[in-house]
Amino acid sequence: MDAALRQSKAMCPFMKKATAAGLRAMTTAARPAVAASAPASATTAVAPSPCGGTISKLQVLARRCPVMGKALAVQSARLGHAGFPAGVASVAGYSTLSGQQRKSGKAKLHTGRPREAQAVEGSLFRDKVQLPPRLPVKPQQQHKHAATTANPATHAAGRGGKFDYEGFYSTELDKKHKDKSYRYFNNINRLAKEFPRAHMASKEERVTVWCANDYLGMGRNPHVLQTMHETLDEYGAGAGGTRNISGHNRHAVELEHTIARLHAKDAALVFSSCYVANDATLATLGSKMPDCVILSDSLNHASMIQGIRHSGAQKVIFRHNDVADLEAKLAALPLHVPKIIAFESVYSMCGSIGPIAEICDLAERYGALTFLDEVHAVGMYGPHGAGVAEHLDFAAHAAGQPRGTVVDRVDIITGTLGKAYGCVGGYIAGSHQLIDTVRSLAPGFIFTTSLPPAVMAGARAAIEYQMAYGGDRRLQQLHTRAVKEALGARDIPVLPNPSHIIPVLVGNAALAKAASDRLLRDHQIYVQSINYPTVPVGQERLRITPTPGHTKRYRDDLVAAVDEIWTELGIKRTSAWAAEGGFIGVGEPGAEAVQPLWTDVQLGIEEAVGRLGGGEGVTERLLAEEAAAAASA
Ligand SMILES: Cc1ncc(COP(=O)(O)O)c(C=O)c1O
Repeated sequence: MDAALRQSKAMCPFMKKATAAGLRAMTTAARPAVAASAPASATTAVAPSPCGGTISKLQVLARRCPVMGKALAVQSARLGHAGFPAGVASVAGYSTLSGQQRKSGKAKLHTGRPREAQAVEGSLFRDKVQLPPRLPVKPQQQHKHAATTANPATHAAGRGGKFDYEGFYSTELDKKHKDKSYRYFNNINRLAKEFPRAHMASKEERVTVWCANDYLGMGRNPHVLQTMHETLDEYGAGAGGTRNISGHNRHAVELEHTIARLHAKDAALVFSSCYVANDATLATLGSKMPDCVILSDSLNHASMIQGIRHSGAQKVIFRHNDVADLEAKLAALPLHVPKIIAFESVYSMCGSIGPIAEICDLAERYGALTFLDEVHAVGMYGPHGAGVAEHLDFAAHAAGQPRGTVVDRVDIITGTLGKAYGCVGGYIAGSHQLIDTVRSLAPGFIFTTSLPPAVMAGARAAIEYQMAYGGDRRLQQLHTRAVKEALGARDIPVLPNPSHIIPVLVGNAALAKAASDRLLRDHQIYVQSINYPTVPVGQERLRITPTPGHTKRYRDDLVAAVDEIWTELGIKRTSAWAAEGGFIGVGEPGAEAVQPLWTDVQLGIEEAVGRLGGGEGVTERLLAEEAAAAASA
């Protein structure tokens, strides 16, 4: 223990200042006074922690430590506690905090000195750590907890008083079954030569996939495959190390260069996925910038939510796409405080599109950074496939003039290589300094093996292909329009949106799963049902994603099958929702038609009408033309 103490004192600025006697006193000191909310039966002095549980005095002090504070924040986030006192989550709460309290919320595990972090963690966690005594649980409370929480006391009786691990798993899984959020995976083997077909567990069981995020079919694009084959043969299977040790190579350099060019930014950084990119970037910036506040759209993806939690920064949630709400929240924060507005361009479960330009206006006014997740938009929008931000200044980007555009105003763009680009991996793009900072500080970037060379080369080929050729995304949009129109014509409730996502409202978890199962079993069509917690209870849906390969015959099969199943299962149609006053955009009276982001002009529809003559069948003829062009591209 003495050696560990000496080591910690040498490395940790907090420990260095503390005397050995002081540290000893802290580990053994009585805890702060009994909290008002503690039960009368509580015999040990406890205080409610900022995380909502109880903490020792050592923990209180450790929270102020630049190293341990972060470790504790991460630990409490893992345990599912909120990282901060309830008041901090609200803007009002933020302004009432004292400087000291705010500091105690800062956490800096994402340090640029990993050796120090390792040494401290190792020495502390390998030694016996004094666990805070647990609050005694009343018998009736204990009963309740058994059903709702993983209370260790419930599982302690298992094997001679030891913790019952299997019992714990079983309780957790039971909860998932009970609230219908248990996930069933379908075994889907997408066939490169038969896109969009796949086989199930058996090769004979063929199905049509209507819900993949390989939106453009790049996962089987011949140029991408050839690049991957050649790279695999020349450079082998794996990268062989982290970027720091042997895993930095020409594939990473070239891919990052291409991504930076795609988004007209100084630089880019590749991660093993965009989940990791979002998590690591937000966690790093939020933890490093003093008193940082992260403003997060209420529908943000789990990767951003987790990154914000890991940062230990204060989080303020604004209503989905509500610029007025965001402004009210920004205005309530001190101007000098660093702020990050985290949001998406295409929200993948409802297909809505973020007000990027308006959020950039607010960011400039209130001194915030913009963090834009373009995961579902890269490859899909804009003249080069750079995403919605690029699409908003279509002509300027087509002319190669990005300066002053919305793209130029967004500080951090994140994207995936795993959806429209058909491979795997994620990235961020931004200024040189930003990229160098994240590269230097983010554990999620530093301490993991680089992507395989073939994957990086393939992803780069996919991006460059889509930068040069817009036919796939135009065809995808045309198919999206055709499917939306065909479902609409049969009174099937599609959530209106301007993007390529087709969410079909079911409104009930069991029915959504049953509809998905029947599509697969009776029609060999795979559309995954989307249930809680991905969407709120009562908003369960099927999420359909057409691709350039979903030609008319597939569309006709899908629409007929959905129609049949809606009747068989008695699922509500648009007119039924309308009769109830409408719901989340479906059947709402007086709602204006939502205009697709890709305009008729951009899709070549106006030009085709002029050329082919209007009337019935022009869309199908245009689709046929586009498909032929895509096949020969
Ligand atoms: C909005 C959003 N951001 C980030 C991610 C994570 O991307 P990746 O699949 O590359 O980890 C997803 C994945 O579904 C997503 O939907």
